[in-house]
Amino acid sequence: ATNQLWGGRFASGPAAIMEKINASIGFDKKLYRQDIAGSKAHAEMMTKQGVLKPEDNAAIQAGLDSVLQEIEEGRFEFKVAHEDIHMNVEARLSEIIGPAAGRLHTGRSRNDQVAVDLKLWLRDAIDQLIGDVKALQSILIRRAEEHADTVMPGFTHLQPAQPVTFGHHLLAYVEMLGRDRSRLADCRARLNESPLGAAALAGTPYPLDRHFSAKLLGFDKPTENSLDSVSDRDFAMEFLGLGAIMGVHLSRLAEEIVNWSSPAFGFVRVADAFSSGSSIMPQKRNPDAAELIRAKAGRTIGNLNSLLIVMKGLPLAYCKDMQDDKEPVFEAVETLSLSLAAMTGMFEGITINKDRMRGAAEAGFITATDLADWLVLDLGMPFRDAHHVTGRIVALAEAKGQRLDELTLEEMQSVHGAIHKGVFGVLTVEGSVARRTSYGGTSPTQVRDAITRAKARFL
Ligand code: ARG
Repeated sequence: ATNQLWGGRFASGPAAIMEKINASIGFDKKLYRQDIAGSKAHAEMMTKQGVLKPEDNAAIQAGLDSVLQEIEEGRFEFKVAHEDIHMNVEARLSEIIGPAAGRLHTGRSRNDQVAVDLKLWLRDAIDQLIGDVKALQSILIRRAEEHADTVMPGFTHLQPAQPVTFGHHLLAYVEMLGRDRSRLADCRARLNESPLGAAALAGTPYPLDRHFSAKLLGFDKPTENSLDSVSDRDFAMEFLGLGAIMGVHLSRLAEEIVNWSSPAFGFVRVADAFSSGSSIMPQKRNPDAAELIRAKAGRTIGNLNSLLIVMKGLPLAYCKDMQDDKEPVFEAVETLSLSLAAMTGMFEGITINKDRMRGAAEAGFITATDLADWLVLDLGMPFRDAHHVTGRIVALAEAKGQRLDELTLEEMQSVHGAIHKGVFGVLTVEGSVARRTSYGGTSPTQVRDAITRAKARFL
């Protein structure tokens, strides 16, 4: 059979394999609610403009409501023969209300229709994701508050660098997630223009009020250029770009949990509810949730790549390639919300081992910078000389198998005669963090101030 929507031009229907490659209903049925909302707004607008008779509009509105109900109740039969969500809805509408259904597609094309649907869908998804990010920030801030003065080693190159507080470390992720949230909000604000009424590509001769339908759908305004309206997938690429960045942030935090929960670190214990065992090694507690969050960043990066590659060679205006924009967007939203929820759950039940963190912070001559700073501040030594003197003291401690604060004053003086007992005040890890009081620094006082600000900014 020929397709009912363009059967006039075609003598035969599609090959089975053509139907299969052409159909998007398998995934774009997710857009049913937005598709129906877009159609209802379009019909209302055409009625106000005198393009559609009120009685036809009434039939269309009621018919679309029944289609929506059928879908929500699982009674709707999606058909591959109807290709996509737009034609599935319209075909069913025409079964329900008859010929009036044929008036709905006036002054409109699937090209503007699909752009409207995807923007509306993404707008809601972004609102959901902002809530998911906020929930994760909230648990991280709570844990930071509990550990504002829990000392742990801060690392660079994964080598002990300077002591920090665990609260401070967690707040670093709160900042990253804060930027993710603001990128989500930016993306939402930028996408919120209505393509409806751009029609196929050139606009339409009907006296449509694009401002009115935009308003009905909660868009800020209609898009400016009809060609751009149907060809623009910036909003989807932008979303996938910020999603890839967010996936990377979650992956980095996941990587920390994988490290911290290894007995070699022993800093945290992931709750049973977020761990799994081994089928052969009875002692194992594997941080599977963290590992999977780390893996899923690969998908969000892949989703961005997919769409960039789909779009990069497309001339204006709509090309069918663009039908392949949806799966990456859907998958990214699903992956990100799953990863955010799993990370939030993991931090709800995580146990922090302060003793192990403090013990690790004592290793690796981690207060060597404090010693060098003391030589500068107390003895007036140039920093480069202080660095050298400290290096020699570290070498001495290493040779003796001791921590810096276990060396005697005489041993230190053997490296530099002017060192006096005041030096011992700066060699403890608590002393080290307490002195880092610069704005945004790791001292418990700064961390508590940062928590107060983070609560006001994010919660
Ligand atoms: N299913 C199509 C898509 O997702 C709708 C637009 C089709 N337009 C067209 N001219 N074939 O992109």
